[in-house]
Amino acid sequence: MRDQAEELRIRMLKSQNKLGRSIAVVSGKGGVGKSNFSMNFTTTLSSIGKKVVLIDMDLGMGNIHILLGKSVPTNLKDYLVGDKTIEEVMFDGPENLQYISGGSGLSGVIEWTEDMFRRLIEAFEYLQQNYDYIVFDMGAGATSQTLDLLVSVDDIIVITTAEPTSITDAYSMMKFIYYKDPDKNFFLLCNRAFTEEEGTETTARLKLAMAKFLSKEIVVLGSLPEDSVVRKSVKEQVPFSILYPNAEITRKLKNVVSRFSDFELEEESVPKQNKFISRLKSIFSGRV
Ligand SMILES: Nc1ncnc2c1ncn2[C@@H]1O[C@H](COP(=O)(O)OP(=O)(O)OP(=O)(O)O)[C@@H](O)[C@H]1O
Ligand SMILES: [Mg+2]
Repeated sequence: MRDQAEELRIRMLKSQNKLGRSIAVVSGKGGVGKSNFSMNFTTTLSSIGKKVVLIDMDLGMGNIHILLGKSVPTNLKDYLVGDKTIEEVMFDGPENLQYISGGSGLSGVIEWTEDMFRRLIEAFEYLQQNYDYIVFDMGAGATSQTLDLLVSVDDIIVITTAEPTSITDAYSMMKFIYYKDPDKNFFLLCNRAFTEEEGTETTARLKLAMAKFLSKEIVVLGSLPEDSVVRKSVKEQVPFSILYPNAEITRKLKNVVSRFSDFELEEESVPKQNKFISRLKSIFSGRV
C-alpha cells in the first residue's frame, strides 16, 4: 500500500507533466472582435479557477493593455529582444489572469531574428509548464511568423461575423491551417450576431463547408450577440464579463467557455504529446 507522501509525489509528478493548452484566436477578416473576445474568454476561464495567460500577438499595435486600462512598462518585444525576462513582461489582469502586452506605438514591421525565435520557443516551454491555457490574441495582419504560430498551436478559435465577406475569409483561414495540419482542433464562434438564428446559420454554414469540402469536423462554440455593453466596457476599460455579469452577452460567453472546457475533458483520455513545441521548432529550424 502506498503511503501518503508517495501518493502526493505521484500526483505532483502528474500535474507537472500536464502541459498547458495553446490556443490561437483568429479571424479571416479583421475587426470582428478577436481582442474583446480573447480578453473576456480568458477572464472567464480564469474566474473558474484555470491558470491562464493571454498573449497579445499584435506586436507594436497591441490593445489588450488598453482594453484593461493599464499602461504597461514592458511588452513581448522587450522579452524577444532579450532586454527582459518573461516574468518581467507578464502583468496581473482581472480574476488572476496574467497577460503579456504586444506593446503599442511601435512603428514599422518587427524584424524577426534567429535569437528572437529561440526566445519565443523558450517562453512557450516555460508557459506550458506553468499554465493551463496559453491564449494568443492574433493581430490583424498575418506575417509569416504569426502564420507559423497558428500552425503550431493545439487549438484554433475562429471568430467570424454573419457578414458574407467575414464568413468566406474565415473559411479561407481554416482551409490554410487545415492544409498545414489536418489534425488541428477548430472551434468556431459567430460574434456580433443580430439574432440567435443569424448566429446559428452562420456557424452551421461554415461547419458544413468544412465537412463537405475538407472532410473536417469542427466544433461550434456558439454565438455572441451584437451588444452595446461591449462598447461601454471598452470605454470603461474593464472586460464586459466583469462590468456586466448579467448581460446576455456574458451569459452566452459562459456557455461558450463551458463548451470549450467540455471538449477538453473529452480529449483528456487521449495522451497528449508536446506537439506545440515540436511543431514550432521544426518550422523555425527550417527557415532561420
Ligand atoms: N459583440 C459585440 N457587440 C458590439 N460590438 C462589438 C462586439 N464585439 C466587438 N465589438 C466592437 O468591434 C470593434 C472591434 O473589436 P476588436 O478590437 O475586439 O476586434 P479585433 O478582431 O481584435 O480587431 P483587429 O483585427 O484589428 O485586431 C470594437 O469597436 C468593439 O467594441
Ligand atoms: Mg485585435
